[in-house]
Amino acid sequence: MTAIVLDQVDEKKRRFLIVATSAAGAVAAGGVAVPFLGSWFPSARALAAGAPVEVDVSKIEAGQQITVEWRGKPVWVLRRTPEMLAQLEKNAGLLADPDSKSAKQPDYVKGVARAIKPEILVVVGVCTHLGCSPTLKKEVGAASDMGADWPGGYYCPCHNSRFDLAARVYKGAPAPTNLEIPPHRYVSDARIVVGEDQKG
Ligand code: FES
Repeated sequence: MTAIVLDQVDEKKRRFLIVATSAAGAVAAGGVAVPFLGSWFPSARALAAGAPVEVDVSKIEAGQQITVEWRGKPVWVLRRTPEMLAQLEKNAGLLADPDSKSAKQPDYVKGVARAIKPEILVVVGVCTHLGCSPTLKKEVGAASDMGADWPGGYYCPCHNSRFDLAARVYKGAPAPTNLEIPPHRYVSDARIVVGEDQKG
């Protein structure tokens, strides 16, 4: 049996699901299609102890996010579109810490993208205020339910903290810092390991 964590597509019903299933088992949750299942190699016991988690990022489509569990926390892996990355460059004036000077993140994660490869964001999905898990709000402007000037990002419903799509906190939010970027490294173009640092 392999433990698999799924990220539901329907944000209204968004929950963090832990499902025990066979590796070949088909999974559906409440009739909502599951876009992708992360591949986990460590045993459930090793995961509970904080073992690194290997994730196949090759099947994550542009604009899609999956969630895996590392050290008991949700870790989001979002493949950003060119439009999302372009918006990050425009957000500086809206952010409390645009350069992530006070954020918890590895030193090999640099720039506004806060990523080793700009298109792939890997971030701990736990609000730095009081620990709720924010919701992805990737639609922008009038297409979103966040207001016409929403530039895209994450929303924490507990006390209204908002973050951009590099998980940087917008000004005026109670969250004191940007979301945490966990240690991670690429073992190939298709796979990353969350919980291990990139060398060099
Ligand atoms: S826990 Fe997220 S805003 Fe308070």
